[in-house]
Amino acid sequence: MKINNVCIIGGSGFVGGHIAHLLTAQEINLRVPTRRRERAKSLLVLPTADVVEADVHDPTELDQLLVGMEAVINLVGILNGDFVSEHVELPKKIVAACKRNKISRLLHVSALNANINGASAYLRSKGEGEKVIMESDLKATIFRPSVIFGPGDSFLNLFADLARRLPMLPLASPNAKLQPIYVENVAQIIVSSLSAPTTIGQSYDLCGPKIYTLKQLVEYAAFITGHDLTIIGLNDSLSYLQAMVMEILPGKLMTRDNYLSLKVDSICSCDEAKKLATLFDIHPTELEEVAPLYLAHLMPRERYNGFRDRAGR
Ligand SMILES: NC(=O)c1ccc[n+]([C@@H]2O[C@H](COP(=O)([O-])OP(=O)(O)OC[C@H]3O[C@@H](n4cnc5c(N)ncnc54)[C@H](OP(=O)(O)O)[C@@H]3O)[C@@H](O)[C@H]2O)c1
Repeated sequence: MKINNVCIIGGSGFVGGHIAHLLTAQEINLRVPTRRRERAKSLLVLPTADVVEADVHDPTELDQLLVGMEAVINLVGILNGDFVSEHVELPKKIVAACKRNKISRLLHVSALNANINGASAYLRSKGEGEKVIMESDLKATIFRPSVIFGPGDSFLNLFADLARRLPMLPLASPNAKLQPIYVENVAQIIVSSLSAPTTIGQSYDLCGPKIYTLKQLVEYAAFITGHDLTIIGLNDSLSYLQAMVMEILPGKLMTRDNYLSLKVDSICSCDEAKKLATLFDIHPTELEEVAPLYLAHLMPRERYNGFRDRAGR
């Protein structure tokens, strides 16, 4: 099953960029719709990528996007907003468009713990979306990642940025457990699944090699960027209260629905993480291997001098 033409819906984002780089390295032709072309700047230079402004919710525009394509990867996902529209209705429209355009291969990125009876509206909508995909009769594969780290993530970068600005951080859900996976590993798994018939009809939980609490991750981001941050872990009711206040502030750093999602540990069994690495022949990258490199720009400037001295510059 050699696939040469792929439409990546939601391909202008964090994970999409990494997938697009891997696919263009294999000279696979890509069509990447975006609501704003400037958001997909890093893709414009890729030789086989065609970045187009489009409304993927419009069936006519979806049909135009899928002309000549052999597979679709759906990466559209949001952490707040209209979950049903993005996580359930859009997958339905994509499935219908694939059928109209005789495209049988569909790769879909959901989230770990997605479940139609899940703890939060986010997880329930992701669960509904999975059901739509699996009941579609297409040659579908679903990926369910825990939190994803890597250059451009909105996770460790956010914590490091907060550590730079604040002396003290009251942290909601400090004991929530997460098993972060490296974005390049996620991209490798998705790309190698594209043409692998054994992955059809499968759903993969994607986790990295280690489990951390949320507090440990914030501490690590502060430590690695050289900022003294006092973290005050909030109890359950204060966590809820903080989420309630933050969801009405600009930027919505946290919402009550995010708080509910964090009530379920976002972890896989260690066996599962190892099985995944063997199955897709990847080296599961540890957070500590790469985070110091991509968080370096958030270090205090004095630290640069230390690096320069050591480098003899
Ligand atoms: N990052 C993580 O830690 C993580 C963890 C678990 C699961 N996931 C899932 O992995 C997938 C990719 O995540 P990501 O981090 O790469 O997300 P991202 O950087 O936020 O990118 C999301 C993409 O979705 C598109 N999008 C968002 N809202 C849209 C809308 N209303 N209509 C059309 N397009 C819309 C954006 O396209 P525009 O160019 O139009 O803005 C963007 O390309 C998502 O499904 C996410 O839920 C991510």
